[in-house]
Parts: sequence; C-alpha cells; structure tokens
Amino acid sequence: MYQDDALIPTFSRAGEATTARYTQIPDNSMLPETAYRIVRDETMLDGNARLNLATFVGTWMDESADRLYADAFDKNMIDKDEYPATAAIEEYCWRILADLWHAPDRTDVIGTSTIGSSEACMLGGLALKRRWQKARRAAGKDADKPNLIMSSAVQVCWEKFCNYFDVEMRQVATTEEHPLMDGTSLEDVVDENTIGVVVLMGVTYTGAYEPVMKVQAKLDSIQAKTGLDIPIHIDGASGAMVAPFLQPELEWDFRVPRVQSINTSGHKYGLVYPGVGWIVWRNTAALPEELVFRVSYLGGSMPTFALNFSRPGAQVLLQYYRFLRLGRSGYTSIQQASQDVARYLSHEVGRFDAFELLTDGSDIPVFAWRLKPGHTDKWTLYHLSERLRIKGWLVPAYPLSGELEGQTVMRIVCRDGLSRDLAEDLLHDIREETEFLDSLDAPMPHPGLPPAFHH
Ligand SMILES: Cc1ncc(COP(=O)(O)O)c(C=O)c1O
Repeated sequence: MYQDDALIPTFSRAGEATTARYTQIPDNSMLPETAYRIVRDETMLDGNARLNLATFVGTWMDESADRLYADAFDKNMIDKDEYPATAAIEEYCWRILADLWHAPDRTDVIGTSTIGSSEACMLGGLALKRRWQKARRAAGKDADKPNLIMSSAVQVCWEKFCNYFDVEMRQVATTEEHPLMDGTSLEDVVDENTIGVVVLMGVTYTGAYEPVMKVQAKLDSIQAKTGLDIPIHIDGASGAMVAPFLQPELEWDFRVPRVQSINTSGHKYGLVYPGVGWIVWRNTAALPEELVFRVSYLGGSMPTFALNFSRPGAQVLLQYYRFLRLGRSGYTSIQQASQDVARYLSHEVGRFDAFELLTDGSDIPVFAWRLKPGHTDKWTLYHLSERLRIKGWLVPAYPLSGELEGQTVMRIVCRDGLSRDLAEDLLHDIREETEFLDSLDAPMPHPGLPPAFHH
C-alpha cells in the first residue's frame, strides 16, 4: 500500500509494530529515524541521570559544552598528527592539573589523559612497578614478587591492576578504630618488594580523605629504620578535583615529597561527561622511559602512555572548556554548592532517630550513614533504598569493606545539579519512607534490593 516506507505511520513500521530486540544483525536496513526511535525508546527505562545519587560521574554540562561535544564527535585522541590542536589541548589540561596539584617544577612534569581513573590507576601502578623492578635489577636483586599496599576500601580498579599485572595486593583492613588508612600497622605489610602505597583522596564508600601526611610520616619512620624508600600514589578519582578548591591548605598532593603520581576522573568532580581521566607524575623521572611509546606527530613523534589506542578526543576538549569557562572561582563555587547541599542533607539525616552518620560531606561532597544499632529488626537500608527507588531516587545501600564488612551503609553523592530544592524533596521522601518502614508491625517479608553498588 505504501510505496515509500517513510510514509508508514510512526509506531506501525517494521521494528516498531513488531519486536526489534536483535541479538543478531537484522537482514535488512531500516529508516534512520526508525532505528533512532527504537534505541531511544529502549533506553527510556533507564533511570533519570539527575536523580542518580549513586554515581560520581558528571550528568550535566551546559549548552556550549554540548555544542563543542557535537563539533568534536569524530576526533580520535590517538591521531596526534591529524589533530595536533587537540593533542596540544590535552597537554594544556594535564599542565593545569600539575599546577593545581603543586608539581615542584613546571618544566619537568609529565601527564596524560585516559578514559577514566581506572586506566589512570593502571598507568600509575605500572610506573611504580617498573621503577621498582629497575632499581632491584640494578642492585642485582630479584624482581619477581612485587606487592602494592592499599586500604581494604580501595575501588575495584586496584584489585584489577594487581590481578592483571601480577602484583600482590596487600590490604590494610579498615576497622572501627581506624576506618581510614592512617599509617597504622604499615610496618607489618611493607617490605623490600613493596612498589608503593596507594592513598585514597576520597574513599569511594564514604567520601572521606585518607590522611596523606600521616602515611608519609609513617613511611619516613619505616625508612629511617629499614632504609626502604617507598613512594605514594594518590588515587584522587574524586578528591583531586575537590581539594584544590575546597581545602586548598590541605597537604595531600605533590607538596608531600613521597607522592610520585596522582590520578583523577575528569568525569567526576572534573565536571565533564564520561569518560575522561588524568594522571600526572611529579617529574619525568617518575615515569620510566621504556613505558612510553611514540606516535607520529607533525612529521615528528609524540610520547604516549596509554592502555587504549583509539579513544574519543571530545572529552579532552570538554575538560579544557570547563577549565576556561569556570576558572578557579567557578570550580570553587560549584564544589562549594555541592558541599553545602551535602552538609545540609547529612545534618538532617543525622537528626533522624533511625540513623547514624559515618561521614558528613566535609571532605568531598559525599556522605554515608548507617542504621543505629538496635533501632529496628523490621527493615534494613536495602528496604529503604528500594522504597526510594519507587520515587525515582537511586540511593545505594551496600556493605562496607575490611573488618567493617558486616555493616550496611547508605551513601549520597552530591553533584553539580543536585539543587537545594531537589535535596529538600529527597529529604522529604527519606523521611516519609523511613516513617513508613518504622510503622510496620512485622518485618519486611523479603530482603529488599540486593546491593546495587560494587567496588
Ligand atoms: C577512589 C576511586 N578510584 C578509582 C575509581 C574508578 O574511576 P573511573 O570510574 O573513572 O574509572 C573510582 C570510581 O568511583 C574511585 O572512587
């Protein structure tokens, strides 16, 4: 009846009136707008990104950023020769970060963009491992049993690094007495095979900063006793883009002498869409030359250190856009606004009879709480998470790590875009759902949503 497929009414076309869930490539083509609508409609059931309080990752940028993104969809970060201006902008960005993080010598510093903090952590770990191997071999010692020290609260990327690159993972368990790695008992885990210590600026579970200076002091005393000179890598996935603006006096970065490298996620508090990350080394000596490859660049060659080859260049341009658009004062205002919301929310949540705060958002704008011991045997935070999801909020409940694994906590990440008004709506819903759960005569009949959050 229709000579032209485009005349068939919307939602009556093949792929719309029939199922279009393909796990094999379809035999025939379809109109672009039909394919677009199928994919778009399929994603309608995804959560609303702005109400996702589980993620650290940027969900909002302004219209100029969106335009810049659309202008740069086609740029491949690895093609330094074809896109020399994008390559130069990548360098401006890591130089800006080196400066924000107090690199001691601006003329002797090195960094790169990555797809996120996970890749950046792998690169940081690889540099530590190679440096240690070189030093061991130069001293005529074996170099086949490297280990890396970290708290049990590390993000899963460190477990991946140790697994993929054959490094023994030595975790310092978080305890009630020492919920953060503060140097305590480091002497029990470090030895001559230790390639470094990872310190978290922003523990994923709670948002707290690990005290870098205390770890530095402990490593100094270990060196005085044993001669072991152990470097630090800072995993600043979230905090390295917060501390320079909200806690400028805090010494956690290259001001701390043992800190050799720092990573961050441009797509978290760097305020860019996913996926861009960064790593900067204190100086060129901290990144062994053999790890660096050369790609063609303007008839010459340019150094690269990355796990991927091709990846989008657009996010790097977006990062530079953010730096220019916001400047130091803009970043400070945004992180401060997020922190104000976090402090307001945590203060209010802390007033509930049912809850006890673990953190209050005063490090990064993230806070976590647990049920007060003995408050109820009728419901858990998994039930509260499920009830909030009915209202559209994604607020994860999950177990802590280390010796605290038996404890369930809830966490809220306050990001740019979680306005004070939305925060009040959220608080209202937390209150209403908590009252509902508290009013139950009998325990909830099922265990609630399983942990929706994994490290
Ligand atoms: C401390 C920490 N390190 C690393 C990562 C991994 O970052 P990305 O998602 O950018 O790979 C995260 C993510 O939450 C994190 O919190």
